[in-house]
Amino acid sequence: ATTLRGYADGRGVRIGAAVADGPLQNESAYTTVLDREFNSVTAENAMKWDALEPSRGSYNWGGRRPAGEPRGRAQPGRSHTLVWHSQLPSWLANGNFSASELNTILKKHIDTTVGRYKGKIYAWDVVNEAFNEDGSMRNSLWQSKLGTGYIANALRWAHAADPNAKLYINDYNIEADNAKSDALYNLASQLLSQGVPLHGTGFQSHFTVGQVPSSMKANRKRFSDLGLEVAITELDIRIPLPADSAELARQSTDCKTASENCLGVPRCAGVTVWGITDKHSWVPGTFPGYGAALPYNENYVAKPAYTGLSNGL
Ligand code: XIL
Repeated sequence: ATTLRGYADGRGVRIGAAVADGPLQNESAYTTVLDREFNSVTAENAMKWDALEPSRGSYNWGGRRPAGEPRGRAQPGRSHTLVWHSQLPSWLANGNFSASELNTILKKHIDTTVGRYKGKIYAWDVVNEAFNEDGSMRNSLWQSKLGTGYIANALRWAHAADPNAKLYINDYNIEADNAKSDALYNLASQLLSQGVPLHGTGFQSHFTVGQVPSSMKANRKRFSDLGLEVAITELDIRIPLPADSAELARQSTDCKTASENCLGVPRCAGVTVWGITDKHSWVPGTFPGYGAALPYNENYVAKPAYTGLSNGL
């Protein structure tokens, strides 16, 4: 194979990219690389609640919603995300709704969104970032008003709206065996024993160069042993700027390790990178002083990380 998707197709897995509406519409190099290299696509922001329902009851399905809207392209969608504490529209975040109102609002959001894309999205991040680092539940709007039961309900509603979609719980800092991944593991076991439709665990995998955890494969395997799919859902490996050649080489090794460790576990669905090019990445804005986190540089030249990623597929 000569492309990422060529390698991934050979392994029967997905290699995905998170995409942003702006470059998708305005930069031909962006869509050229997307179509050539990736066999899965995720909207970086366009499927989040604030983008979909900016004012209550008025949905914004317009524009070119990258995941799920037929674009005449070859990528099926992995969609992100239905229930999250962040990027909520202000009418919802500041609405002071009662528990029963919130329950109704959440059900409607899931019915409407998953129902609209039924058959077009192969996997949904149903719940995102539900845990704190110490393994306790994050005190989100959902958790504080509805309790942990919101997770099972969200999964059941999503399954009813699209019985063929794979339903994931997604989080960061769960790549290693630690208190947070233990808590998710315990919740996942419990949900499965209750017959709740949970099909996968998404490991975001926002790493710093040289700090890819060594317990990653063993940790992933215990989720896979529950019968769950595992996937890397938001891979990027940030480097303190300016990145030097040793760091770029290390990033390449880290990319290989990350994808290898996923594909080395049964039921690995694949790897999604959180962007395509360093020109458009959330990293510099969120982690000041860091960047160069993606497989292509600002000029769409493949970096050593690209080779590392292909070698891990
Ligand atoms: C990020 C996007 O990349 C940014 O453009 C946006 O401003 C904030 O959200 N974990 C997630 C993603 O689950 O939704 C986040 O995406 C990155 C961290």
